[in-house]
Order: sequence, then C-alpha cells, then structure tokens
Amino acid sequence: MCGIVGYIGEKKAKPILINGLLRLEYRGYDSAGISTIEKSGIKTIKNKGRVAELENSDEINKLNGTIGIGHTRWATHGKPSTTNSHPHMDNSNTFSVVHNGIIENYAGLKEFLKSRKYTFLSDTDTEVIPNLIHFNYQNSEEKGKKRLLEAVTNTSKMLKGSFAIEILCSDFPDNMVVVRKDSPLVIGKGVNENYISSDIPAILSFTKDFYLLNDNEFAFISRDQIEFYDEDMNIIKKEARNITWDAGAAEKGGYPDFMFKEINEQPKSVRETIGARITQNSKSSIPDLKLDKEYLKTINKIFIVACGTAMYAGMAGKTILESLCEIPVEVEAASEFRYRNPIVNEKTLCIFITQSGETADTIAALKLAKSKNAKTLAISNVIGASISREADYTIYTHAGPEIAVASTKAYTSQIVLLAIIAINFAEKLEINQEKVNELKSDILLLPSQLEEVLKNTERIKSFAQRIYKEKDVFFIGRGIDYTVALEGSLKLKEISYIHSEAYPSGELKHGPIALIENDVTIISILTNRLLVEKSISNIQEVVTRGAKTFIITNQELNHNFDEVITIPKTNPLISPILSVVPLQILAYYISKEKGLDVDKPRNLAKSVTVE
Ligand code: AGP
Ligand code: GLU
Repeated sequence: MCGIVGYIGEKKAKPILINGLLRLEYRGYDSAGISTIEKSGIKTIKNKGRVAELENSDEINKLNGTIGIGHTRWATHGKPSTTNSHPHMDNSNTFSVVHNGIIENYAGLKEFLKSRKYTFLSDTDTEVIPNLIHFNYQNSEEKGKKRLLEAVTNTSKMLKGSFAIEILCSDFPDNMVVVRKDSPLVIGKGVNENYISSDIPAILSFTKDFYLLNDNEFAFISRDQIEFYDEDMNIIKKEARNITWDAGAAEKGGYPDFMFKEINEQPKSVRETIGARITQNSKSSIPDLKLDKEYLKTINKIFIVACGTAMYAGMAGKTILESLCEIPVEVEAASEFRYRNPIVNEKTLCIFITQSGETADTIAALKLAKSKNAKTLAISNVIGASISREADYTIYTHAGPEIAVASTKAYTSQIVLLAIIAINFAEKLEINQEKVNELKSDILLLPSQLEEVLKNTERIKSFAQRIYKEKDVFFIGRGIDYTVALEGSLKLKEISYIHSEAYPSGELKHGPIALIENDVTIISILTNRLLVEKSISNIQEVVTRGAKTFIITNQELNHNFDEVITIPKTNPLISPILSVVPLQILAYYISKEKGLDVDKPRNLAKSVTVE
C-alpha cells in the first residue's frame, strides 16, 4: 500500500529517488526513507513524516551513490515512527530492503530468526525479510550472483502474504534484486540506467519502456542489463512495453491539487473512454471483449464486484446493464464476496471494477469467481496492472493517471465504460435496439455536457463556504440517483472528515428522519423525471424540520431550495456521470475551506493492496 522506487545508473540516485517518492506519496505518507550504496557500504536515511521532511534532512545530501531504493510508507504493522520506517537492514548490515505489502506469517518467522540469535529493532512485519535473506545467504552453497538469487528466492518462498520488495546487498554494489507477489512493481528501462517503481506515472518522465513483473518473478538488475527469473531461478524472457501516457498527465499542470485537476479533466477523460468504441451509426466495438452472442445467451446473472467508488460505479452500471441486456445484475463489495460462498458458476459473468487494478480484495474476489468457473472481465485504468494478469478479459477506462486519493475521473469513466459494455451486449443479443441507439447519442454528448456542469464551480464553492463547519450531512436520491448519493457521501467523508450518510429518499421516513434538526444539510440528486414529484415530497419533509437543501437536478423545479445546481438533461441511465460532478466539487471545496490536504486525506492511501 506504499510507494517504492529504485534507481540504478550513472547519475546520483538521491534526487531521482526523492523525485519518485514525491510522486508516489499518494500511496502512503506516514514515513519515508532511502538507502544508497556508498563507497563505505549501504547508507540509510529515514524518518517519520512526509517525503519533504526527508528531503530537507541534512544527512541526505551526503549521499552520492548511483544505486538506491526508496519507500514511502502506509503503516500496517508498527506505528508510524522513524524506527519502523523503511528501508530495513539485516543484523549484519549487508542487506537493505523496502517492502510494500504485508507478511502474514511474520510472527512465526520472527520467532524462527530469534531462535537463531537474530535481533529486531522495529515492530514491522518487514524486518524479517532482510534477516531471512541473510539467513538464507549464509546457508547457501552457491557462489556469486547465484548465491544472492538463491537467498532471495528461498526467502520469498518462506513469505506468506503480499509483497513487492527491492533489495540492496553490500556484496553486490552494482546490482539490485526485486521480486513481487500480489503487490505492484514495474521496471523502467533506460540507457545504462534502470528505474523501479510501484507505478508507471512516478517514473514516466525518465522512460516510456516498461517491464511488468508477474507474481513470483525476480529481476537481477545491473546498470545495462536486467535478467528475469522465475521462482526456481530459471531465466525467463520478457518484452518491454511502450507506454504512451504523456508524462505531463501525471503532473499538476497548473492546478492547485491533483483532485481539482482530475475533476476538471472529466470532459477529456470521458472522451478518451468513449474513444472509437461507439459511434452513432455503426455497431459498438470493444476489440478486447470477445464474448459472443452464444455465450451471452447462456448467462443468467452478472455479478459486479469492486470496492469503494468503483463499487458505486458498479451500482450505476447495474441499472444500465439490466435495462439494456435484460440479465439480472448483482453488485457486491469485493471484501464481502470473497469471504462468503456466492452463487457463481459457468452461467455467471463476473465484472471486476478497479481504477488501480491492484486492489487486493478485488483481485482475490476475481480468483474466487474463476475457481467457480465464471468468466471474468476486469475494468481497470492502469495498463498491465495485476488484475489484468488474472482476468479472462480486461478493458481499460483510459482516463489517464489518477493521482488524488479520492477517485473522481475514474468513476465517471467506469460508468461510461459499463454503459458501452451494456450497449455491446445488447447489440450482440439483438435486443432493445431503440434504447441502444438513444443511449449512444446521449453518451456522445457527455464530454460537452461535462464542460457545462463544470461552469457551476464558483456557485458550488460558495455553498461549500456556507456549510464547511457542519458535523453531519445527508445525501438522498432515488434509483440511480441514490447510487450517486452514496458516492457523494463517500467523497465528502474521505476528504473533509465530515460525517455523512446516504439514503434512498423514500427510506428517510423509516428512521433517519429522526436525525434531521434545524440547519442540517440535505443534499439531494433529482434527475429522473418520473420520480421528481415523489422526491420533492421527501425533501419537503426535511425542509419542514429545518434542513438546508442543496439540490442537483436536470429538471425544472418550482420550489425554493437553498441552492439548486442545474445540470444538462441526459439519458437517466447515464445521469450519474453529470450529477456526481457538483458533489465532487462540493467535497473538494469543503476540504479546502477546512485547510486539509485534499490529495492525501488522513488514514487513506490510493491503492489498497492489503486486506
Ligand atoms: C475512492 O475515492 C476511494 N479512495 C476508494 O474507495 C477506492 O475507490 C477503492 O479503494 C477502490 O480502488 P480501486 O478502484 O483502485 O480498486
Ligand atoms: N507492512 C509494512 C509495514 O507496515 C509495509 C507497509 C507498506 O506497504 O507501506 O511497514
């Protein structure tokens, strides 16, 4: 769940590592550290707090080595502290290790090592790794490079859990070894230099050629060479992939924060998601989705499984898929799905949605569905992410890198893609052609309609200034608007730390209305013409009890509410793509008014690669 970075080349490693860590900081930010190989051996500098504090420490400027590893932590074992920060060394100071993930059997391994006189400084699970490598290194009968590789492969076989690990060894001052299992790691190839990172954007300004490691694959890296091995130390061949993302896409580009940039990018990101997949007058085209009519006719259920915002996108997708394809759809949190016995078989299509493609719960849920013979389709934003190596089919949202912890543009792109999939299935099944054609033209209008919605930014900001001190906020909506209420509420919680809840409008009177008192804010989404009157009655019920009302609608309302943001009319099936934007902007400005770190909210991290 943290960020790891590495450099091996002819330049000074320290500035490259710090630069990479600053870009990876959104993945975890409670402490940071780097190790480099100096003439005198491995030097490690680390501290609690942000990468900027590490960068400003006096000691760090003394590092001149051209090989190094770095880490920005999101603590899972042991509180954030300098001692618990990575890199961690073994007792003999031969190995330095950074680790992303969790070693589930660390307690047993620690006991094993203690019984062999190893001692430990930190409370982390990670510290067993350098010591185990040392133990295996001491016990190896191999010589040279093979000895190091054997020590690392034997160690990784002893580890249970998830890990992406970079290892420096003082006996190999011109090399680095990396390995991964269930945690992300990419290697960027340069000329006489190589870069390692948890994700592509962090090193995109240095190279565009990347190797992606699969689970239990190792790389032995020199300045001018990278050798890949499987867990039995057999050499494997890998092709580098050229990534076409523009390096600038991972920069703030003049915006104050990534979140604000990503909110404003939505006209463009949605346009990218649509791409050439749909046009008005021809059939939809999703070349990577090879599910034909015969298969689609055999399925009797679609499961959409995801976490957080991606799950809420899935809830909107359920309405679209059911309406166009006439197949029942169930949506479930991956963390629940994976630990029960869901009714899934060869007649079930399971769709997994994940921006990062690295979410541990979602990947585990996919593996479970596969084991039950379901076909699996992943929707991800990150090319080559772990989930794409597990799923039968992967299709990409192409929303560009999303850096802010709070997801915005990935959500809108996920719903667009689900709508395109629904169109594709309905076309293959030859049903609902009229609905399909209407939806196509409505999807093609979305980018320009998103531009319209963004013009409300100043008005939403003023409302944010009115309510930012509140303690509780309620979001309500009916049908697909309720799924947007859930997402709006999550956004607000995540970045403003205001308690908020989302309810189906009609549920208020069954309990939650007891919480409504003078001046409480109710945010209501109203986009379905057929449900407007009913929803207005629900809003009146809270207005009578003194609530402030913020309404997002595409209908003409003849009532007095505290603030009404009018958005363009669209097909009710895809209205969340427009109606969510004011809620993103509202959460953003409330967080700004409170002086919080919008991009890096407390206790969270961008990709949740641990359970
Ligand atoms: C979104 O704002 C959250 N940070 C979070 O709910 C996120 O959507 C969830 O963790 C799933 O992430 P993924 O899409 O990368 O799988
Ligand atoms: N489990 C390790 C720790 O708590 C690594 C956490 C991370 O991925 O940042 O130190």
